[in-house]
Amino acid sequence: MQPKTGNSGDRITETACGMLNAIGLENIGVERFLSDELPILQKLDATVIVNIFGNNQSDYAALAAKLDDVAGITALEINISCPNVKAGGIQFGTDPETAAKLVAAVRKKTSLPLITKLSPNVSDIVAVARAVEEAGSDALSLINTLLGMAIDLDRKKPVLGNVTGGLSGPAIKPIALRMVYQVAQAVSIPVIGIGGIVSSRDALEFLLAGATAIEVGTASFINPRIAIEIVKGIENYLDDQEYDRVTDFIGSLTNSLI
Ligand SMILES: Cc1cc2nc3c(=O)[nH]c(=O)nc-3n(C[C@H](O)[C@H](O)[C@H](O)COP(=O)(O)O)c2cc1C
Repeated sequence: MQPKTGNSGDRITETACGMLNAIGLENIGVERFLSDELPILQKLDATVIVNIFGNNQSDYAALAAKLDDVAGITALEINISCPNVKAGGIQFGTDPETAAKLVAAVRKKTSLPLITKLSPNVSDIVAVARAVEEAGSDALSLINTLLGMAIDLDRKKPVLGNVTGGLSGPAIKPIALRMVYQVAQAVSIPVIGIGGIVSSRDALEFLLAGATAIEVGTASFINPRIAIEIVKGIENYLDDQEYDRVTDFIGSLTNSLI
């Protein structure tokens, strides 16, 4: 609802096969988003999904109400999984009951499709997935970043100003694939796969695991056009393999060894 400056000090550092970030959800607030950013997005031939977070449950609900009938917004993605802020984010995403209450509160305030973004920093992601499905989420997206840390040996200090940060990129892909696979089998709403996708082959693996869509984060820092290239790569693969529809491919992973 309000602008947020994010965390101080260094906020991004590269790691083996990935990166750690502790941005702390810096953003310009909903009023300036609506006046300055949304008009630019509306002019593009693209679907706009707004990722929302709040400091408490009523913040999330107020934001959902505010965005409900705004032209040009297709869906809301509720972030209950940011590991880099003290209030909001992950505090709502680690306990199934708390997550469900939050989703139910947001559900009451909007008729837009709701995607709940899940955290991998839990012992049982399926329990959270089932709880938010029950509470009215229309889809799930997973995973957000894994809580990590980098240390500067020479300075004997943590690299990030926030000390800990969220690990993303190819390093987390096996964990993301496993979680998408488990969740897709446990719920009946669509699952969006996220985590370390840098190519169309990575994306196709997530589709095989049961995801019906994917998101790309870290790879966009290397190549901002990567999402478009991934879409083309998926199309080429499905054509080569003579699939008429992507839905015939989704979830078609075989467990057979022969
Ligand atoms: C710099 C940075 C900022 C991020 N900010 C957000 C955010 O505001 N909301 C959110 O739900 N996820 C955020 N994420 C998490 C990503 O959307 C994604 O879930 C995660 O990075 C794993 O995907 P990837 O390996 O493709 O980056 C952020 C990730 C990075 C690297």
